[in-house]
Amino acid sequence: MNPNDTKSAAEDPDLLTQLIDVACDVREQAYAPYSNFQVGAALLAASGAIYRGCNVENVSFGLTLCAERTAASAAVAAGERAFKTLVLVTSGSVSPCGACRQFLIEFGPALEIVMVEASTRQITQRISLAELLPNQFNDFREG
Ligand code: THU
Repeated sequence: MNPNDTKSAAEDPDLLTQLIDVACDVREQAYAPYSNFQVGAALLAASGAIYRGCNVENVSFGLTLCAERTAASAAVAAGERAFKTLVLVTSGSVSPCGACRQFLIEFGPALEIVMVEASTRQITQRISLAELLPNQFNDFREG
């Protein structure tokens, strides 16, 4: 498949439903004994593959990994470098934290972020990563 032919979830409702299913499913695997706040992420790569992520907490709180970063890391480990859509499922629906915004923008500002409320599966927000992280740090060599 030509990666450029892969539709974004914005153009394909079935694909978006599939991404929400995956994110809801992986949210069940969240390891969140401290916050009890489970997060599931499904990341659609330009290849068409979907990568799963959940939050992984630690008793040393600062070591906690967010779902977005576990999904992106799994994707990169599989050889992916370009991403189309990230679906994020939580109770109440939250926006990616600042650290995850910076982590994800490494791979491009065009990523579509879709936030979904877990119990209703309703989409609460769709926004590009560039909108979530304007004026981003992206090249230390031009300073
Ligand atoms: N969390 C995520 O996984 N993604 C976010 O965008 C926000 C926060 C996790 C980290 C921690 O395990 C829990 O949610 C509460 O902050």
